[in-house]
Amino acid sequence: MNDKRQLQEPLRVAVLGSGNGSNAQSIIDSIETGSLNAKITCVISDVENAYILERARKHGIHAEFISAAPFKTKLEGDAEKKYIALMQSFQTEVVVLAGFMRIVKTALLTAFPNRVLNIHPALLPAFPGMESWKQALDYGVKVAGCTVHIVDEGTDTGPILVQKSVPVLENDTPATLHTRIQAEEHKAYPEALTALASGRVRLEGRRAVIE
Ligand code: GRF
Repeated sequence: MNDKRQLQEPLRVAVLGSGNGSNAQSIIDSIETGSLNAKITCVISDVENAYILERARKHGIHAEFISAAPFKTKLEGDAEKKYIALMQSFQTEVVVLAGFMRIVKTALLTAFPNRVLNIHPALLPAFPGMESWKQALDYGVKVAGCTVHIVDEGTDTGPILVQKSVPVLENDTPATLHTRIQAEEHKAYPEALTALASGRVRLEGRRAVIE
């Protein structure tokens, strides 16, 4: 997956998010502490006052609100074109979805083939979709977690890069379980990006092999 890039150069990552941006923060922190050889080219949000934009600006990262209207749940049409154009203008290699509350469509996936990543708060393929931590609790599983995967045309179906597990405790509420999962998310995304940045990821069918 990495054969064309110069491995000593920082991996050029764009981050898309709609909310708090704690995953974006974990990536920023990993870069700033030197554990991840990457550069965030831009942060884009479909929500004008999303905190993720403020977090990025605090670190001198280009941060932009781009409306995705008229669609409510997907990124398509003119908005999609604007997102792609901005990311390409910064020579983005990898697109990181970090709490981006929209389905991304073919044009974006084609512009960054096998290079759009998502983080999902469950051990996929269990509990795709919304509020997975609540689904896990309601189902009664004893182990929950998070997954970083390559985005394909399906929902939460692409090749898995990194998974982290957490125990489900008897007295967990959706909020306490979500918090424990999020702490692992903040390790999982930097780990997946570090593997990509160092050229250690190879795709074998739907298996992402990390060497
Ligand atoms: C995370 O829990 C992630 O799993 C889900 O959206 C949330 C984003 O959180 N896809 P944040 O905006 O990174 O804090």
